[in-house]
Amino acid sequence: MNGRLYDLLGRFEERSEIGRRRRSLVARLEGDVLEIGAGTGFSLKHYLKASRVVAVEPDRSMAARIPGKIAGAPAPVEVVDAEAESLPFPNESFDAAVSVFVLCSVTDQAQALAEIHRVLRPCGTLNLLEHVRGHGRVAAWQDRLNPLQRRFFGNCHLNRDTKAAVARAGFDVGEVEETRIPGSYALVRDGIYGRATRISS
Ligand SMILES: C[S@@+](CC[C@H](N)C(=O)[O-])C[C@H]1O[C@@H](n2cnc3c(N)ncnc32)[C@H](O)[C@@H]1O
Repeated sequence: MNGRLYDLLGRFEERSEIGRRRRSLVARLEGDVLEIGAGTGFSLKHYLKASRVVAVEPDRSMAARIPGKIAGAPAPVEVVDAEAESLPFPNESFDAAVSVFVLCSVTDQAQALAEIHRVLRPCGTLNLLEHVRGHGRVAAWQDRLNPLQRRFFGNCHLNRDTKAAVARAGFDVGEVEETRIPGSYALVRDGIYGRATRISS
């Protein structure tokens, strides 16, 4: 992905409802926080209570933009070049994890969720804002257009049932609500938002 372009377009989006959702998702997180696929670092300024944020981002063009955002971040930030499917951290080393528009793009979603589960402490939370598979005709079009979307938008899948996958990975999804992604078009309008809690080992 082109980090400069992502940053430029995202800056406008962040002033809208997306930015407000992002802030309310992460501002209350405390302790050691892991953000997977941190992109260019749009979440960093919102970690008001975290004692430490580890921002994992495998795309160099995206990660290169993160240092510019660290100065405005209230918590200390460490940037790590890694993929969510293979996190270079010990078991049970984080209090919370964050994924904003990332679980649509990871290569192996089940493996990424297993890794997030592994590195979270008991009762740790996975905080999500993701676009997901819709219903009826929307889902049919998502299936049809998925190959094109993946090809042109960094492996982003239109049709993943991410809430079900999070539940299968050993999380309580009672506080993950189905929502509409603000300002989006039909194929990426269905979303999930909220907190999943690690429940099993
Ligand atoms: C749409 S961007 C979202 C970036 C950021 N989370 C945000 O909200 O602005 C998707 C991000 O997921 C990252 N990504 C893709 N596959 C990944 C993987 N396997 N592990 C971790 N991050 C991944 C991409 O490099 C990209 O930065």
